Amino acid sequence: MKFPKKTITSVPLENQTVLVRVDYNVPLEEDGSIADDFRIRSSLPTIQYLLKHGCKVVLIAHLGRPEGPDLKFSLEPTALRLSELLGEPVRFVDKTVGEKVRMAIKRAPKRSVIVLENTRFNPGEKDNDESFARQLAQDTGARYFVQDAFGNVHRGDASMAAITSFLPSVAGLLVEKEYTQIVSAMKHPKRPLVAILGGAKVSDKIQVIREFVDKADTILIGGAMANTFLAYNGVNVGASKREDDQSDIIREIYEAAVEKVGSDSVQKFIVLPSDVVVAKSPDATELRKVPLSDINDDDMCLDIGPSTAIEFVSVIDAAGTVVWNGTLGYAERPEFAAGSERIAEEIASRTHITSIIGGGDTADFVLHWDEKKGESFSHVSTGGGASLELMAGEKLPGVEHLLDA
Ligand code: 3PG
Repeated sequence: MKFPKKTITSVPLENQTVLVRVDYNVPLEEDGSIADDFRIRSSLPTIQYLLKHGCKVVLIAHLGRPEGPDLKFSLEPTALRLSELLGEPVRFVDKTVGEKVRMAIKRAPKRSVIVLENTRFNPGEKDNDESFARQLAQDTGARYFVQDAFGNVHRGDASMAAITSFLPSVAGLLVEKEYTQIVSAMKHPKRPLVAILGGAKVSDKIQVIREFVDKADTILIGGAMANTFLAYNGVNVGASKREDDQSDIIREIYEAAVEKVGSDSVQKFIVLPSDVVVAKSPDATELRKVPLSDINDDDMCLDIGPSTAIEFVSVIDAAGTVVWNGTLGYAERPEFAAGSERIAEEIASRTHITSIIGGGDTADFVLHWDEKKGESFSHVSTGGGASLELMAGEKLPGVEHLLDA
């Protein structure tokens, strides 16, 4: 699949000042240190490419959801981590626009990296404010805008959308790679295409489930999402987390599935757990592996059971492409991560499978599980909401406004 937008490799940006939007919205520890630098590591190819071409690289990003300037959400720690990863000095400026920014960029040598302060410290950012975007373009003196914040491309903020009215705007290597991998898997998959869907809520993933009913050959459902589907099918899921207000949506999903594969095959098309791991609470240490018929009223389903894992594995083994979004149990606790681990192991060991791991919790899980830091999979996305929206075929403001290829 050809990426539809211009990228940093298609414009003459030698020795220019370039404004690059990255997604450094990284998880922080209590003490403010960076808990996971996956998004920072993923931004390196674009930055290194620009440095190789003699650019002054000015990075902008957001962190958290501050209401205004709030040092808890300063990007300074990300600048330090970037410097360690690049093995080069990275300058940090504690403003996003204004005189201090202008002077810092002017004084910085060619072929250098500057990180500006959190774009969300400015009220104009979330409002997609044109004057804030204009100021960003003017104060940085940039010749190009590079969009590399894949994890944020579903947000139409000023540093994502309005900025493209003031600078010729192209994609960075991460956005190009994520977009191409995810759209290829959805539009031109090596078949069979197997979707594995989990996580907490059906309501967060309605569009993507609909899309997979249309595009996938099999859909495997786990996690708390499976409880909602099981309860809809009349299974007693005890005290499990579920969404009882999603019946209409699930009915629609089943209607579309029946239309596609026929009522006799629907249970082989949308595959639900046949056994589960239950406990009295997510913190409990005592757990039971039971068939669906043995779930008690005070049990919570917290993982898929061993027979379900075997069934899921046999579907995965026959797949050409696997797209995985959402863990299959309460995988924050190792006691309830066995199902997700078994599935990760199977996908990773089958090197002929094109495997796309959605961002957010699923990416956190596989990166933690995988000794090769995600390399065991074809693609691990840096975007949670962004990858879901892209899979669902929605338009992404952070990509739409870039120059066409
Ligand atoms: C993300 O982490 O999904 C993106 O960085 C977007 O952040 P937001 O949900 O705070 O807009």
